[in-house]
Amino acid sequence: MTRILLTRRWPEAAERRMAELGEVTLNPGDQPLTAAQMRQALADYDVVCPTVTDALPAEVWPDNPRVRALCNYGVGVNHIDLAAAKARGVVVTNTPDVLTEATAEIALTLLLMVARRAGEGEREVRAGAWTGWRPTHLQGQLMTGKTVGVIGFGRIGQSFARKAHFGLGMKVIYNARNRASPEVEAETGAVYESSLDELIEVSDAVSLHCPGGAATHHLIDATRLARMKSTAILVNTARGTVVDEAALVDALKAGSIAGAGLDVFEAEPKVHPGLLDLDNAVLLPHLGSATVETRVEMGMRVAANLEAILKGEAPGDRVA
Ligand code: DGY
Repeated sequence: MTRILLTRRWPEAAERRMAELGEVTLNPGDQPLTAAQMRQALADYDVVCPTVTDALPAEVWPDNPRVRALCNYGVGVNHIDLAAAKARGVVVTNTPDVLTEATAEIALTLLLMVARRAGEGEREVRAGAWTGWRPTHLQGQLMTGKTVGVIGFGRIGQSFARKAHFGLGMKVIYNARNRASPEVEAETGAVYESSLDELIEVSDAVSLHCPGGAATHHLIDATRLARMKSTAILVNTARGTVVDEAALVDALKAGSIAGAGLDVFEAEPKVHPGLLDLDNAVLLPHLGSATVETRVEMGMRVAANLEAILKGEAPGDRVA
């Protein structure tokens, strides 16, 4: 029987579905695996189903891995050295599509929370410090009619653009490695901007939707932060490594940008201590895909990929 390891707790329905596909080992304590435990898992199981919290660099692989497939629970695979897996003939799959809307919603949530100073307001109410309505109290920024620059224009970036343009009436510009088709541009209301720096300079808000990994490491660094408007907001629901967190703290402290909404961090679950003191930063614990529906669907998508692999068919979401 196929030996399958789920490295973290999954929603029950998804765990039950996986149990139909082989002999499943669950992680009832929900603790992330250490590197040594991961190495052992690659030696002991036919299929390992990791998440974003499982690092799978080349060094973790044992000499004689038993594993034949890594069926990742999540869309981002920057935590997996795909070349190292491929070199060992290991198939890698992910879970696109099912988390698109949830993640785009979180980006919009962060944008509005920062613009409307919702985190500050919530803290004030809970602290019993609210003295009542007054015309000058916690004035934020209207986003309706403003320009948002979207960096990375895959499924999530497109969904965010659609929501921002048709929902909030924002002007949306985007930059990506490849320009989208005229149909996608019309349907999302987004206009292509070929220069990343130009996009950053003219946007009232910048929302990151590119993959993580070496190609986008510190794409938003001190120089690019300095190009942003002093009234602009940065939203990151992509990967923490896309932003130089120390440079962001400096920019937020200096007021060279107005605020930031972050769902991802450079060294999760650690958060740069400088961010914790800043009122103009809204910080969420990587909640992009965290809805009941989405997390079940992610598990079902893993199961669909694995079922295809076990039948000797091509899985729908193969990334290596
Ligand atoms: C992903 O899927 O890559 C998210 O970051 C975790 O859900």
